[in-house]
Amino acid sequence: MKIVHTVQEVREAVSAWRKEGLSIGFVPTMGYLHEGHQSLIQRAVEENDQVVVSIFVNPMQFGPNEDLESYPKDLEKDSLLCEKTGATLIFNPQPEEMYTGDFCSFVDMTGLTKGLCGKSRPIHFRGVCTVVNKLFNIVQPDRAYFGQKDAQQLAVIKQMVKDLNMNLEIVGCPIIREEDGLAKSSRNTYLSKEERVAARVLSQSLEEGRGRLEEGETSVQVIREIIRGCIEKEPLTKIDYVEIVDAKSLEPVEKVEKTILIAIAVYIGKTRLIDNFTFEC
Ligand code: PAJ
Repeated sequence: MKIVHTVQEVREAVSAWRKEGLSIGFVPTMGYLHEGHQSLIQRAVEENDQVVVSIFVNPMQFGPNEDLESYPKDLEKDSLLCEKTGATLIFNPQPEEMYTGDFCSFVDMTGLTKGLCGKSRPIHFRGVCTVVNKLFNIVQPDRAYFGQKDAQQLAVIKQMVKDLNMNLEIVGCPIIREEDGLAKSSRNTYLSKEERVAARVLSQSLEEGRGRLEEGETSVQVIREIIRGCIEKEPLTKIDYVEIVDAKSLEPVEKVEKTILIAIAVYIGKTRLIDNFTFEC
């Protein structure tokens, strides 16, 4: 496995693989890798001849009061995880390599980016779409792997690929969790011991909601209130949103009658965490 820092180096590797007729899988990440990322890399290794992992904390997708400066980094540990999982190339550019001084082109999306995380993070998806588009152009993969953990991001990327006729397949992968149910996230490292215990309430509240859906509850309002009530019982939380939306359009629904996405964003102290599940009826 090789670690490279420039676009030119990636292009050289990719063009050599293409000459040999090899397929390329791609896993974009911001590093500080855990078993969630690893599951994506694993799947990419199973389905492709070569696997590129990008590790780039993309400044463009962070708002002014977000955690760009404190985002955790550990390239050495990340590269060990990539190597042992079977990735062949890590692309780890500096911001200047991705955004030259005269940079002025963006990929912007309406519709899917309005609600959920787009509401409290208004510039986030513009940054995500722009960087993922750039990374796709650099790596030119056959398949790219994204986690259902960021359900809105996955929907947005699928839409971008369709709308802009990008020639690759987007593969969605299930959420990987800690033993107590907390979805794995690089941001979990921000949590104090007390907050880490409190953070269990995210997955627990979703489980309560799921239970009621399975019992046949069809009122979106009732499900939302059950989830909110469960989260609010934990004093260290502050709810950003609890939303029930159509799993495809991400538009709010009134009744549970199609496949729905139940998505939440909750502050535990200063740390904003997200979780979700999809329910088919
Ligand atoms: P990052 O948060 O590092 O996540 C990289 C990929 O790992 C995303 O597709 C995310 O959904 C997936 N992932 C994270 N935690 C997961 C978990 N517990 N289970 C399954 N998959 C998980 O998402 C980003 O980076 C960035 O926005 C990026 C797409 C790289 C663009 O900068």
